[in-house]
Amino acid sequence: MSDDRTAALIRAALEARRRAYAPYSNFTVGAALETASGEVFTGCNVENASYGLTICAECFAVGAAVAAGHHQFTRVVVASDAKAGPCGACRQVLAEFGDLEILMVDADGEIERRRRLDDLLPEQFKLPGR
Ligand code: THU
Repeated sequence: MSDDRTAALIRAALEARRRAYAPYSNFTVGAALETASGEVFTGCNVENASYGLTICAECFAVGAAVAAGHHQFTRVVVASDAKAGPCGACRQVLAEFGDLEILMVDADGEIERRRRLDDLLPEQFKLPGR
């Protein structure tokens, strides 16, 4: 992967983060998911007055990509203030589509950590026989 592609993926995550709707936590997250074919789909967190209905940035990015017909992903950039990685639920949602690289970046787009999803979520749930 060229550095240009990485930079573009990070920019996409930062841009999505600016559109996050997080009036309750004020913790904004942006995600940019790269498909095996090189397309990029983004998501941001969308909170709700009924807090439990909040949807994470990564889940929205997965939904956008799947709705466009993609099931194979190579990398996801997660942008937040805390350089946070995907929460447990998002790890499981991403794992549905196989292993990928996760880049955690700060508010300036600096890469804080890179991890494989399989390392962040070992022994992930799979339906027996699939
Ligand atoms: N959040 C995400 O968007 N992704 C994660 O992986 C962890 C948490 C959001 C949900 C909520 O809007 C805010 O961060 C604080 O938990």
